[in-house]
Amino acid sequence: MCGIVGYIGNVDAKEILLKGLEKLEYRGYDSAGIAVQTGNEISVFKEKGRIADLRAAVDSSVTANTGIGHTRWATHGVPSQENAHPHQSTSGRFTLVHNGVIENYDIIKREALQGVNFVSETDTEVIVQLIEKYVNEGQDVETAFRSMLKKLEGSYALALLDKENDETIFVAKNKSPLLVGLGEDFNVVASDAMAMLQVTDQYVELMDKEIVIVTKENVTIQTLNGETVERAPYTAEIDASDIEKGTYAHYMLKEIDEQPLVMRKIMQAYQNDAGTLTIDNDIVNAIDAADRLYIVACGTSYHAGLVGKQLIENMAKKPVEVHVASEFNYNMPLLSEKPLFIFISQSGETADSRACLVQVKEKGHKALTITNVAGSTLSREADYTLLLHAGPEIAVASTKAYTAQIAVLAILANVTAEKRGYNQSFDLAQELGIVANAIEALCDDKEEFEAIAREYLSTTRNAFFIGRAVDNYVGLEGALKLKEISYIQAEGFAGGELKHGTIALIEDGTPVIAIATQEKVNLSIRGNVKEVVARGANPCIISMKGLDTDEDRYVVPEVHPYFTPLVSVVPTQLIAYYAALHRDCDVDKPRNLAKSVTVE
Ligand code: AGP
Ligand code: GLU
Repeated sequence: MCGIVGYIGNVDAKEILLKGLEKLEYRGYDSAGIAVQTGNEISVFKEKGRIADLRAAVDSSVTANTGIGHTRWATHGVPSQENAHPHQSTSGRFTLVHNGVIENYDIIKREALQGVNFVSETDTEVIVQLIEKYVNEGQDVETAFRSMLKKLEGSYALALLDKENDETIFVAKNKSPLLVGLGEDFNVVASDAMAMLQVTDQYVELMDKEIVIVTKENVTIQTLNGETVERAPYTAEIDASDIEKGTYAHYMLKEIDEQPLVMRKIMQAYQNDAGTLTIDNDIVNAIDAADRLYIVACGTSYHAGLVGKQLIENMAKKPVEVHVASEFNYNMPLLSEKPLFIFISQSGETADSRACLVQVKEKGHKALTITNVAGSTLSREADYTLLLHAGPEIAVASTKAYTAQIAVLAILANVTAEKRGYNQSFDLAQELGIVANAIEALCDDKEEFEAIAREYLSTTRNAFFIGRAVDNYVGLEGALKLKEISYIQAEGFAGGELKHGTIALIEDGTPVIAIATQEKVNLSIRGNVKEVVARGANPCIISMKGLDTDEDRYVVPEVHPYFTPLVSVVPTQLIAYYAALHRDCDVDKPRNLAKSVTVE
């Protein structure tokens, strides 16, 4: 969620910080700021709105070799200039940026900071005031930083400047992502490697509650108790062109178009020398040994999990439950005797999922993370990882990660099925190849989806998606995509559920997008369409070749019935994209949303 950058070195920090913040824009934010330091002069610039507004507000005559920057996704206090970060202590000595939520900020205010005049509504401000208090009481800055961390409860990624020391950035994290990047005569801080790829590809992971002292020559990592930690850097293997839009108007469209390529990359990555799709034996054995699988995820990844359940149960005959992480966390179901957990997360940083992983590990259970980001928190903390190989996903609305998640789950289901003696009547590699071609054909048919979006969605206030069996799950995802970027109130329902309540919402002209790719429910979903049409709905049936009829608005190419979600989701992605465009919405950065939700 939102982001942090920092630079300490020999060149002017301003441009590096601003460029870094631009690279973090995809994560979602509502205000931004930087603080730069020359000697014992710290200048703070912050603005509500876009980085472009901040850029315009920065005084170009100020030059400084040290600085920190922040994009804020407001949790405590409205998005405003006062609440934007960096925040300063009362004397102005300390300047801080923070991502996350300090859960006990109110208690700290009441118990430790009585009499302090707070100038913002944020939880963050207590952090910087607490350091100042400890320093005023006689602690040196490092000790004060440590004392402050011991007081904090909640999530944080933080970077701190001290007016009286222009050679250090103090850094720490807990639950929120933060990395240190290494360079020749400079070092950087960043929420993710993409932000600082402009200056380095060498990064060091930070663990929760470590104290990190960053100078231009050194990075020193200590535990909270003061023991020094040695940690080797890794090379961030991100191609700079992967994070550019190229000729595309929006990242979302680029990422939709990348889906056939991602399918093929996944097949390459999971192929053994004999050309068979395979998964690490340890993972397959762990799944085989479990009596029940629990998939835990949020949003689009949760929707991919629903499809994954279907694949694993159909192919490998292993029972699977799928849970929304934020619920599972506080309302854990009765677990089976030998559970295995599968966390699905594009970013690998989602706080709700991570909180579940922590609980699951505490209970001594094994966990597998399926993620797009190698080295992410959920990957590091699980026993096993399967990567999506989708390349960076920048648009807030997840598209290629969803199809990649389903493809990896299909491979997992297939390999587990083989291990358990359930051989399939199809060759998965061949089926996924057919899927890749089908997605390509859909991506070549954009005018059609633009026309559908114009016809059905340019003025409507709401829309419904219906489907049965696995099509229901695709409908849920289609509705999420549409609502998050076009702000149309969209809901997905099981076709048969409509008459139990939702049908009351159908009015003249209400768009109902029905997905019909499953033979066993083809007649019944069409019956449900008739029911809504009888009440005035404007139906848009998306069916699959072989099951189509004259009333269908779009027919996707035929693929194996298990893998239809990989294909039928693409029209819903493109329709959502064009609906958002027609309604003048900010496609890649929808309001109120963050790409990586690192607060619970
Ligand atoms: C998808 O379009 C959303 N932006 C959101 O639902 C997302 O899938 C969810 O926040 C989970 O993120 P993760 O996969 O990174 O854990
Ligand atoms: N909780 C802090 C605030 O509302 C930080 C939010 C963020 O992560 O950007 O300012």
